[in-house]
Amino acid sequence: MQTLTLIQPDDAHVHLRDDEYLKTTAPATAKQFGRAVVMPNLKPPVNTLAQVRAYRQRILSALPETFSFDPLMTLYLTDDITPEQMLEIALSKEVIAAKLYPAGVTTNAEAGIQQIETLYPLFEVMQTHDLPLLIHGETNLSHVDIFDRETYFLTFLSTLIERFPKLRIVLEHITTQAAVQFILATPNHIAATITPHHLLLNRNHLLSGGIRPHYYCLPILKRLEDQQALIAAATSGHPNFFLGTDSAPHRIDTKETSCGCAGIYSAHAAIELYAQVFESANALDKLEAFASFYAADFYRLPRHTKHIQLVKQSWTVPDTIPFGHHDLVPFWAGDMLAWTFVTENQA
Ligand code: NCD
Ligand code: ZN
Repeated sequence: MQTLTLIQPDDAHVHLRDDEYLKTTAPATAKQFGRAVVMPNLKPPVNTLAQVRAYRQRILSALPETFSFDPLMTLYLTDDITPEQMLEIALSKEVIAAKLYPAGVTTNAEAGIQQIETLYPLFEVMQTHDLPLLIHGETNLSHVDIFDRETYFLTFLSTLIERFPKLRIVLEHITTQAAVQFILATPNHIAATITPHHLLLNRNHLLSGGIRPHYYCLPILKRLEDQQALIAAATSGHPNFFLGTDSAPHRIDTKETSCGCAGIYSAHAAIELYAQVFESANALDKLEAFASFYAADFYRLPRHTKHIQLVKQSWTVPDTIPFGHHDLVPFWAGDMLAWTFVTENQA
């Protein structure tokens, strides 16, 4: 049987949620990934060192002891954080990066930032102490068309890069050809994550022939041309594009309703979903670097030394997965995937 062996990958962007939901999310991510950059958009937001520490402990407590998994914690940037607090956070080395959400732009972004310029004193500290900035790169201006919000944001991002020329930045979950071109044209310390759903889908999948709430996420799916640009970027071998699932689970009843939540859960089959994309693009040889090298290099972490394995054996993704006292509908539910993950994550 055909096998695919990779150095253990890292997930550079994941939502694990909290409390009873961690029983689903944490083992699913830790089964495949050695490390994951954990998003801080809980309610209330994870915006102090004490909250970061407590959240990390809750994640580790949700894992069987046999798992060796390092949750890389992020800090939610709110406008009440002082430069002194940011200095303490940067020096602590307990957070891998700080996350900027323009206010209201996505799930649990109410505590985000109205005027990004108000954060410049914090960015100063982050630049000096080399703490990366992660950005949900969409404008929150309500008059801007939802399909244009990422492209619109890029103009502001150029200003930010000029103003803070040494600040390392990850433009998270890029969705457009414009964002791909932007990353290719920026210096090496500006990178981007790419999700499996933006590689596998475009807005026709969301809206043509019926509206599919389980394909609704932010930034919203774009055109086929954008999807193709993302596939080209991910499979190009360029080190500034790397794996970040943006796995973002929501209960089934909060997705299948008159005003459904944004977010797609992909942790149950993350590496298999990417393998599907890379194989279709005849680029399986590029998967390991995208999944296992480039995020580690960007975050200046050692690459893993152990391996994971996939076998070429098709399987059908389940229709639902238990999620706390409810269920969720996982990405690719009811559909076939060509590759099966076969490695157990042992300490
Ligand atoms: C994420 C979530 O649900 O937390 N939703 C999403 O659609 N991607 C938040 C985010 O990353 O935008
Ligand atoms: Zn996200």
